Amino acid sequence: MIKSAVVPVAGQGTRLLPATKSQPKEMLPVARKPIVQYVVEELVANGVEQVLFVTGRNKTSIENHFDHDPELFRALSQANKQDLLQELDFRALQAKFFYTRQRLPKGLGDAILCAENFAGEQPFVVALGDSILGLHACSRAVSRMTEIFEERRASCVIAVEEVPPEETRHYGIVQPENGPEDCFRIVNLIEKPEPGRAPSNLAIAGRYVFSPLIFDMIRRVQPDKRGEIQLTDAIQMLCEEGRRVMAVRLAAEEKRYDIGNFPSYFESFVEFALADPVYGQEFRHVLERLLAKAAVAS
Ligand code: G1P
Repeated sequence: MIKSAVVPVAGQGTRLLPATKSQPKEMLPVARKPIVQYVVEELVANGVEQVLFVTGRNKTSIENHFDHDPELFRALSQANKQDLLQELDFRALQAKFFYTRQRLPKGLGDAILCAENFAGEQPFVVALGDSILGLHACSRAVSRMTEIFEERRASCVIAVEEVPPEETRHYGIVQPENGPEDCFRIVNLIEKPEPGRAPSNLAIAGRYVFSPLIFDMIRRVQPDKRGEIQLTDAIQMLCEEGRRVMAVRLAAEEKRYDIGNFPSYFESFVEFALADPVYGQEFRHVLERLLAKAAVAS
């Protein structure tokens, strides 16, 4: 069982401006909760006990979110709001939270390198702080990945999902050794290839398991033309060294909600709101009414 996870949340969120001008994109709400809360809940449900957030400037609200707030606690207690008190008691998750800062925006690889002391000699999970897996974070992919990591003595396991060919340029794309089954060995990876150069349409989906070997690889990666150290390039080096790099496909119900741009953010919000146990039904009627009105107007 792997107990440590690293959640990089240092990205600037420029594709979601102005919403992210002074707040982290990971704190944008999807229905009732901020994105990063779903990520933490998923990790804990998959056996993780300690989480390191790799943060940057303007990210203190993430720390505040998981912290105890005595004033709010007092106000909710006085108003006898037991449900909310319970929901906001993150101690119940029984996870420990750690924070460190990436000093300069030098890419995802560099952010993961900030976790070297935290990980020590142990394998660890990486979960991107802007991706939710499955409706209400129901995914158990990380548990499957951890099992594969141990059974196959892998150096890295990556969650992947199919994307339309024209979208390969937005993701790291993997090349399977044989036909892509639910779990397969990867022989090559390319970060954000144009459709003609993509070795498949299987994209890296924001969850990884690593052995600490990855840190040496990251140190050897040359920055790309934007000065960023790409994590994908470090994984590619593992492949080149003959290390075992595996992929686990996300099941249909583990679909990734990628909150990296407005269309997918809007879609995620609406889908989670429709599934809300209290307000979902009412919201469905509102949406139907709005759609009918829009149809008449067009
Ligand atoms: C990062 C990774 C990429 C991966 C993607 C998933 O890219 O570099 O390989 O497919 O996350 O969201 P970013 O979205 O940070 O540009």
